[in-house]
Amino acid sequence: MTLREKVIAELEENIGKYVSGEEMARRFSVSRAAVAKCVDRLKRDGYAISSANRMGHCLLASGGVLSETRIRELTNEPDIDITVYKTTDSTSTRAKKAISDGLISNAIFAAAEQTNGRGRYGKSFYSPSSTGLYFSVVLHPDALISDSVAITAAAAVAVCEVIEAQTKKHPQIKWVNDIYIDNKKVCGILTEAVSDFESGRVQSVIIGIGVNLTTEDFPDEIKDIATSVGENIDKNEFIAETYKRLKQYCRELALRGFMDKYRANSLVIGKSITFSRNGVDYTATAKQILDDGALCVVTDGGEAMILSSGEISIKPIF
Ligand code: BTN
Repeated sequence: MTLREKVIAELEENIGKYVSGEEMARRFSVSRAAVAKCVDRLKRDGYAISSANRMGHCLLASGGVLSETRIRELTNEPDIDITVYKTTDSTSTRAKKAISDGLISNAIFAAAEQTNGRGRYGKSFYSPSSTGLYFSVVLHPDALISDSVAITAAAAVAVCEVIEAQTKKHPQIKWVNDIYIDNKKVCGILTEAVSDFESGRVQSVIIGIGVNLTTEDFPDEIKDIATSVGENIDKNEFIAETYKRLKQYCRELALRGFMDKYRANSLVIGKSITFSRNGVDYTATAKQILDDGALCVVTDGGEAMILSSGEISIKPIF
């Protein structure tokens, strides 16, 4: 453990209480000046630390800054591989690289900022510094490739449940896995699977989750459709809770126990939607979501169709 990690762990263990700088220096076998310098650096990095003469240093709130120590503590899983970046290209790209380098344990890659955040269909995901939460969970479920949509649905349910538990907001799921609040997108989920084509089984899955927490200025191309959760959320708790739920849902994937919640939070059931298939544009009514995540629709021409992937748009009501 570096001195920084030791100081963070000590302050987090005593959150809300003053910890003597002298005491930390003695325990970590460094000078008081080294501890003071380390605390100054943490403050510059955004940690809410109050320092007082003769009392020491007190961590006021842990939720604003991503902390590997805190996430590990909250997940209560010693073997999990956790990597936290101040900035990285994409947590999902980092996860993919780790898998190809031989990662076999469950893992979380989280960042305060992404310079090349990736969305579905090759789109980019706007990931500005500190106002959002960007993380990728790596799991190794014993699942069929055909279960991928269900894993995606499980992730959407996990995120909704965590938002509901940590805020007063009512998130909804726009099929397949965008999370909306007040009809605007607050979270996108990108699920990527590393699979064995011959056995038809998923070896590892990377579930990349991007949440706009307090972002206010969005780029022109998304400013009308994106919004933020807008409440102070404990980032480490958010990640740990989402991970725990996701892991549980993937363990019980065959039961599809999360699908009722998925349907209950659906933004699309009963709505008029548009979509394209094989170059043909359709307008339809979304009727139901099946346990495998597929969307049943009836087109305006009266044809019943089952959509198992792809993008849909909800028709605005004027
Ligand atoms: C989408 O809306 O199309 C999906 C967006 C997924 C964004 C998350 S942020 C964390 C992870 N890293 C990425 O590069 N993408 C996912």
